[in-house]
Amino acid sequence: MKKWIVVLFALLPSLALAAGGNVNLDKANNDLTDKASLQNGAKLFMNYCFACHSTQYQRYERVATDLGIPVDLAKENLVFDPEAKIGDLMVNAMPQKQAAAWFGAAPPDLTLVARVRGVDWLYTYLRTFYVDPSRPFGVNNTTFPNVGMPHVLEELQGIPTPIFETKVVDGEEVQVIVGTETDGVVS
Ligand code: HEC
Repeated sequence: MKKWIVVLFALLPSLALAAGGNVNLDKANNDLTDKASLQNGAKLFMNYCFACHSTQYQRYERVATDLGIPVDLAKENLVFDPEAKIGDLMVNAMPQKQAAAWFGAAPPDLTLVARVRGVDWLYTYLRTFYVDPSRPFGVNNTTFPNVGMPHVLEELQGIPTPIFETKVVDGEEVQVIVGTETDGVVS
């Protein structure tokens, strides 16, 4: 795998990707009173994220209660582990050591990530994956350069391609990513 990555790097034209340093964050504009939207978010999280990321400092039941989901519905739709009870902490089966080898970094627990990173960062991060053949999963991220996470929302978002501009940085011409586009739509 390592050799393969090195070969890919060697084949690429020398691009200095200066993206990432000063990322402009988009406004998440999330509404904590919009229960339907929050419930949908919980569903998306369990389907697209929980296989890799635990939220082990909270319980399924607390999520259900906070989001106004009746316990039986939550059990049916949010608790995928047949052994887990609604009162259990939200752990998953991702083996941390192997995951670090597979992805270059273990997927961190996300219980407090919105507090740590902020909602605008999260919103922007999830929407700034782009095609980059030099990376192990063929994608990179302008908000989190060289992130180990694959583009897991690809089936919902497609994969944006980067838009480059030549800029002079420290007296040298480099290709800088100034945005991305998906099917001709610039974001
Ligand atoms: C296939 C496994 C996998 C899936 C599925 C996955 N991630 Fe990740 N995620 C990772 C890995 C690995 C990292 C660590 C990347 C690194 O440090 O380079 C990561 C990092 C992150 C980070 C950065 C955490 C930080 O503060 O450093 C966030 C936020 C995140 N993921 C959110 C999500 C969300 C939301 C979903 C679902 C939409 C998701 N992930 C699905 C593997 C995954």
